[in-house]
Amino acid sequence: MKDSNFLKENNARFLWHPMTSPQDSHDTPPRIITGSEGVRITDIDGHSVVDAVGGLWNVNLGYSCQPVKDAIARQLDTLPYYSTFRGSSNDAAIELSYELGEFFAPDGMSRAFFTSGGSDSVETALRLARQYHKLRGEPGRVKFLSLKKGYHGTHMGGASVNGNANFRTAYEPLLPGCHHIPAPYPYRNPFDETDPAKLAPLCAAALEDEIGFQGAGTIAAFIMEPILGAGGVIVPHGSFMPMVRDICDRHGILLINDEVITAYGRTGAWSGARLWGIQPDMMCTAKAITNGYFPFGAVMLGAKMVEAFENNASAKIGHGYTYSGHPVGAAAALACLEETKRLNVIENAAARGTQMYEGCLALKEKYDVIGDVRGGRGLMTGIEMVSDRTTKAPTGPEIGTVVQDKAYEAGAMIRVSGPNILMSPPLILTDADVDTILSALDAGFAAL
Ligand SMILES: Cc1ncc(COP(=O)(O)O)c(C=O)c1O
Repeated sequence: MKDSNFLKENNARFLWHPMTSPQDSHDTPPRIITGSEGVRITDIDGHSVVDAVGGLWNVNLGYSCQPVKDAIARQLDTLPYYSTFRGSSNDAAIELSYELGEFFAPDGMSRAFFTSGGSDSVETALRLARQYHKLRGEPGRVKFLSLKKGYHGTHMGGASVNGNANFRTAYEPLLPGCHHIPAPYPYRNPFDETDPAKLAPLCAAALEDEIGFQGAGTIAAFIMEPILGAGGVIVPHGSFMPMVRDICDRHGILLINDEVITAYGRTGAWSGARLWGIQPDMMCTAKAITNGYFPFGAVMLGAKMVEAFENNASAKIGHGYTYSGHPVGAAAALACLEETKRLNVIENAAARGTQMYEGCLALKEKYDVIGDVRGGRGLMTGIEMVSDRTTKAPTGPEIGTVVQDKAYEAGAMIRVSGPNILMSPPLILTDADVDTILSALDAGFAAL
């Protein structure tokens, strides 16, 4: 391994980092993480902090999950790769599909299509949605509806249903036929409605209005995150997803839950679908499926998809990835699922999530720069910063940088995205770890 000076000097020389500019990677060198243990990460200078980001919403079981490491090592020894394309399969992928079928049965899911990550899962679901309607004799249903502020990864389909200009503008024109409705985001919405219970039916009505405008017979699917993550941890009112489910049913539109963050326990429920008491038609999962230890994802499929695609010789899936059902990923996922269930992570996610949320609300009392605190459903917590609470003018990037840097010095890695601080620590953290994160945030805000 090269020494730390070499690594610092070369970080941005040959490596283009996602979600920033090459210039920024030179001007604002990133923290180079070289070690980890439990819920902590250590940088190249030996500074150790609690990882309040949980990798990137994915390291639910922390960094020292030995059963997963062992499963990966065993699988590498026996079969490091074999494809699941027509004519071949592998044992780990088959076993995982069986286990996931059981795990997601309460959500109405019974089949799995494997991918290499979240963007792949979204792309798969969008494609299968179009094919579903073609198989059923409605080839005109090709459009997609989604929420403003939603994040659905970076493939061309996912970027097209994304609801944030940062991930769209540079890559336009995107897929035609993708339309967005207002998110149930009480802090900012076109209806000036701050009560989540009153906002939910307004957003649902906007969905129905858009369906009427486009023509239901042109729409393949509506896709949404049960809790919007990257858009700022926006938690819909409990009535929203049931209303969406009903609207989709009445108009023959498939409902795709993008559960790339919310599946496997992060919200304090085993899935976002179970959190809100609905059954989608497809569920995109990735991230915590392998705890971040291996790139992997799964699209789970419900009864309507099974009915359209199975016992139908013409239902050929012309879609798949070299790494669909990768045996090492599947072995990692099997071990993660077992650990996730054994540790019953939803309990700690709910308890520590409440502690985080209440702690952040207390910080809001102390610091005017905090405009809104969102979360309270498991370990997804968002803080939205404003330069003026009355006008809700967002803070500039320099404010987020100060808070992030000071919080890091004080013991926690937090993530800043625009005016939002996004936190999604491992689900196994202790109440003392949450206190460390909260006091680091306190130090960050105090430095402003
Ligand atoms: C809800 C959601 N969907 C899709 C994605 C894309 O996943 P990936 O980055 O693994 O491609 C993400 C990533 O953060 C996500 O949060």
